[in-house]
Amino acid sequence: MTLFRDRSGPRIKHVADEGAPYETITVDKLTPIIGGEIDGVDLRDISNQQMDEIHRALTENCVIFFRDQHLTQEQHLDFGRRFGELHIHPAAPAEPGHPELMIIYADKDSPRANGEGWHSDVSCDPEPPMGSILYIRKCPPKGGDTLFANMYAAYEALSDRMKTYLEGLTARHTGEHYRGQYANYGIKDKESYPFADHPVVRTHPVTGKKALYVNEGFTRYINGIPRDESTGILNYLYKHMANPLFQCRFRWQENSIAFWDNRCVQHHAMWDYWPHTRSGNRVTVKGDRPY
Ligand SMILES: [Fe+2]
Repeated sequence: MTLFRDRSGPRIKHVADEGAPYETITVDKLTPIIGGEIDGVDLRDISNQQMDEIHRALTENCVIFFRDQHLTQEQHLDFGRRFGELHIHPAAPAEPGHPELMIIYADKDSPRANGEGWHSDVSCDPEPPMGSILYIRKCPPKGGDTLFANMYAAYEALSDRMKTYLEGLTARHTGEHYRGQYANYGIKDKESYPFADHPVVRTHPVTGKKALYVNEGFTRYINGIPRDESTGILNYLYKHMANPLFQCRFRWQENSIAFWDNRCVQHHAMWDYWPHTRSGNRVTVKGDRPY
């Protein structure tokens, strides 16, 4: 993918080369930049070739979607395990007996909903999750969409001067905002929450491509520069990465699944469906230390 910039902002010149055709699944791209809806697969019963192609579809599209899947909690966990060890959320509630199966739930009495605001999941962890697999079982008649943004594209669209400026910088990510967030589930605050310093621009370990890796949810400041400069740069980057050019928007149905790569994607959940209920589970796959 190549993007270029002129005085009026980022423009798309050329989109990603398509890989080889898929043989065991079909992939319908939501936009040329990000998102692919996958058909022709039942996630309860996946062949090795389908598994390889799903992995490739994730790499090529950054986030993939499946409709009309009927997984038990165990099958959801098993699907996640095929991509690696599972991550346990440092704060959020989980299903009884399944600490790796995070509860996603908002109804008319909820003080908040999961995932509002742009973020990459649990980027406060020293080794943040590689991917998140969200299975929505109950959704409102309208609303509750999730937006996804391609952080390779956001990085590529920066000016060369900005890319040079950001090179080698790290930023502090913290999970302190988890404090009090799950009190309505009866979850008591921990003494401390994870924090970590990560490169502002990370290299994806599979594709070798660079992606912006600061987000409004977890990043507090850029290290080694004055705090007001950090605030200015971060605010610029947040505004830049929220450009709709880099995004797709997924409309959920019951029994849909989204699987996103946290290393190159940020997402934003809409809570526009009050007083309706939206619920499901998330399985999260462990990742590596960003570099
Ligand atoms: Fe999230």
